[in-house]
Amino acid sequence: MVSLAVVGAGLRGQQYAELAVASGLATVVAVADPSPARRAALARTYGLGPDAVFDDWAALAARPKLADAAIVATQDRNHVGPSVALAEAGYHLLLEKPIAPTEEDAQTIIVAAERAGVQLAVCHVLRYTPLTGHIRALLDDGRVGELVSVQHLEPVGWWHFAHSYVRGNWRRADLATPLLLAKACHDVDWLQYIVGRPAVRVSSFGSLFHFRPEQAPPGAADRCVACPVEQSCAYSAARLYRSCLGDPDRERWPLGAITDDLTPEGVEAALRDGPYGRCVYACDNDAVDHQVVTIEYEGGVTASLTVSAFTPMADRKTRIMGTRGYLDSDGETIRVYDFRTATEEIIDVGAGTDASAARGHAGGDAGLVEAFLNSIAAADPSLIKTGPAESLTSHRLVWAAERARQEGVVVLL
Ligand SMILES: NC(=O)c1ccc[n+]([C@@H]2O[C@H](COP(=O)([O-])OP(=O)(O)OC[C@H]3O[C@@H](n4cnc5c(N)ncnc54)[C@H](O)[C@@H]3O)[C@@H](O)[C@H]2O)c1
Repeated sequence: MVSLAVVGAGLRGQQYAELAVASGLATVVAVADPSPARRAALARTYGLGPDAVFDDWAALAARPKLADAAIVATQDRNHVGPSVALAEAGYHLLLEKPIAPTEEDAQTIIVAAERAGVQLAVCHVLRYTPLTGHIRALLDDGRVGELVSVQHLEPVGWWHFAHSYVRGNWRRADLATPLLLAKACHDVDWLQYIVGRPAVRVSSFGSLFHFRPEQAPPGAADRCVACPVEQSCAYSAARLYRSCLGDPDRERWPLGAITDDLTPEGVEAALRDGPYGRCVYACDNDAVDHQVVTIEYEGGVTASLTVSAFTPMADRKTRIMGTRGYLDSDGETIRVYDFRTATEEIIDVGAGTDASAARGHAGGDAGLVEAFLNSIAAADPSLIKTGPAESLTSHRLVWAAERARQEGVVVLL
């Protein structure tokens, strides 16, 4: 049994803790979070005494080691401190993505983990989904011949984008990280895993097209609860958050991000006074709402990635073009087309394909947690598919793509 400390008992910290315990491979023995409500909830769930509950990661790290491993699920700009201190204290690390906002900070964490001899798994959960396993197996079996090109769409979803990247924690690069790192580091990493070749050049375009003051409809107020045109607005916070009450999944997310008080009164208070009640055209946001990235890999293989706010809430879509066949996936099924026989096979990836964070990223969260726990139990880092080396490589491609977008250049890697 692997013992775990949860550092950052927010949405992700809670999710990994639950999955770890549900796997039967781990126990939760400590928690650190400045939010009294969040740490108390976790302490209650796992029966933790006062000496295992901390209001800050530093207080946990200052104590003699309490657990085999730590789940580091603090916000993007608060990964370096806890990761380095806990690695030095001997904890293996399950670290949320992005590793850190800059390459220098990411290297600091990786070097600390290497020096301490602890394992480090980065939460690029897409590598661990059954869907990804199927696609990799089909490619390895040569079902499309040689892979030549990939077209990949990350449909963020209109209300998810408004929640996280206009009103929420990832709305500004200086508060969190740019959209490509905050959201689509998953996709850049996944493409790297699927293509299996080093990237050599990257370009990117994108901007904040819509969520700007000049796009506000005439008469719009700064808060949805006071807005005369709220009912006709696609991005009404009142409609979104009020409709979550009574649905356990949506109460956890997105509602759990805006209030700890999951009652009609709690929701109205958050809409009236909190950041998530603001008009999407009157926020202090700068996250781009659409971005394309084109990548050339060694040998001339290419990929294009589109990340967009302006989609339904849906699974990622991928088309893979090979010399002998073609494969596409809508997240639930995979269609493989063979050029030699002009026939296709449809593979149903099966239940549990809901790719939202609240539903565990289509099995990716559970797959990651189990791989991490097994790697500790077996002292075998090769069980982790998202260790420091591959995660840093795909982060580097994200940083290069973001530089390409900002400077209008093609970046050589
Ligand atoms: N892998 C994924 O698919 C995925 C999905 C969503 C978010 N994330 C990442 O997970 C991380 C956490 O996101 P979240 O949505 O759970 O955020 P969250 O805000 O719900 O949770 C972060 C928690 O950290 C706590 N915290 C702040 N300072 C702390 C400190 N000094 N010591 C201990 N805890 C502290 C906060 O109180 C909060 O409860 C972010 O880096 C985010 O980008 C990853």
